[in-house]
Amino acid sequence: EKVILAYSGGLDTTATIPWLKENFGYDVVCCCVDCGQGNELDGLDERAKLSGAAKLYIEDVTDEFCDDFIMPCVEAGAVYEHKYLLGTSMARPVIAKKLVEIARKEGATAICHGATGKGNDQIRFELAIKALAPDLKVIAPWRMPEVWKMDSREAEMEFCKAHGIDLPFAADSSYSRDRNLWHISHEGLELEDPANEPNYDHMLVLGVTPEKAPDEPEYLTLTFEQGVPKTLNGKAMKVSEIITTLNALGGKHGIGIVDIVENRVVGMKSRGVYETPGGTILMEAHDQLEELILDRETLETKKKLGSQFAQIVYEGKWFTPLREAIQAFVTSTQKYVTGEVKMKLYKGNIIKAGTTSPYTLYNESLASFKTGDLYDHQDASGFITLFGLPLKVRAMKLQEVEKN
Ligand code: ARG
Ligand code: SIN
Repeated sequence: EKVILAYSGGLDTTATIPWLKENFGYDVVCCCVDCGQGNELDGLDERAKLSGAAKLYIEDVTDEFCDDFIMPCVEAGAVYEHKYLLGTSMARPVIAKKLVEIARKEGATAICHGATGKGNDQIRFELAIKALAPDLKVIAPWRMPEVWKMDSREAEMEFCKAHGIDLPFAADSSYSRDRNLWHISHEGLELEDPANEPNYDHMLVLGVTPEKAPDEPEYLTLTFEQGVPKTLNGKAMKVSEIITTLNALGGKHGIGIVDIVENRVVGMKSRGVYETPGGTILMEAHDQLEELILDRETLETKKKLGSQFAQIVYEGKWFTPLREAIQAFVTSTQKYVTGEVKMKLYKGNIIKAGTTSPYTLYNESLASFKTGDLYDHQDASGFITLFGLPLKVRAMKLQEVEKN
């Protein structure tokens, strides 16, 4: 029988290869799903084979990740607990989808992942697998202490050595990180005590802190069509290229660093730092355009559903009817979200520098203080009489009662 192992090339998942063979008799097919994590993929093939894997798939899903997972979240304005742009949360379902696809192709009966029993990722992987392939078995070594007896990196290294795997694994003195095209997350070390200031110089990967950013601001222009970014500084690019370029710009100017104590699905609070330089710019630009285009009530409803959408994604419920339905609503609101957004990046700030759209509902003559054809100041009197009627009726009643 075959198992598909979600493989990163790190010590944990490398030790998992001989562990799966030895304890379950599986043929191990490794699958590394590339969501744009950068240079973490070098030398993976050699590693997997040396460790006894039957096969290694490296699957680049970066564009699918951008178009079908990131963009729906951007359009929805999905932000978890007001701060977290969901970089890890939205990558899990696309990874799970790929793992299931490979499992089908290989005729595998199980999928193995290296998420711990304390986190959100196990939930996201497993809810996605249940929704897409209810017949597949899931193996989570971290939740099997009676079989997975390695309780430290040293123990894992011993185990690897004993199975003829002699690879240079870096000493683990670093943060627990998760990287893809949208973001990098940092947890652990000094962050585990919220009383500590983050050691940013040691931590940051995608950019610098605002105090180290250039003293000169930098302008950029984005255009959108129906909610989707199409050009950056006049150049047509696909979404993944736009995010890549915005990451460099945002990182340079100290944009999108978030330090948050968030509520995990499994009940505990956890402290993390996220770098989402390009994503922060993209979401801000998209918001800026919607301000001009969406009417007040649609905007309000969209805000509420956007925060629910964020919770759904955070909780791993991507492949559900509710997520699809909210996404359909959001898509419908994007019909006229077309236009151009100019902004200025400066020391961690994104400053508006002008927004235009052929569909703007902003009407200058309406908004200015002149009287025109569309608006007569005197109309406001009758409007206020009726709008304020319930307040007035109540106040009159209270006056009357207090007199007696
Ligand atoms: N706390 C974040 C989330 O739940 C980030 C998780 C990071 N995952 C990781 N395997 N390091 O989405
Ligand atoms: C893990 O525990 O595997 C990473 C953190 C998380 O999933 O929240």
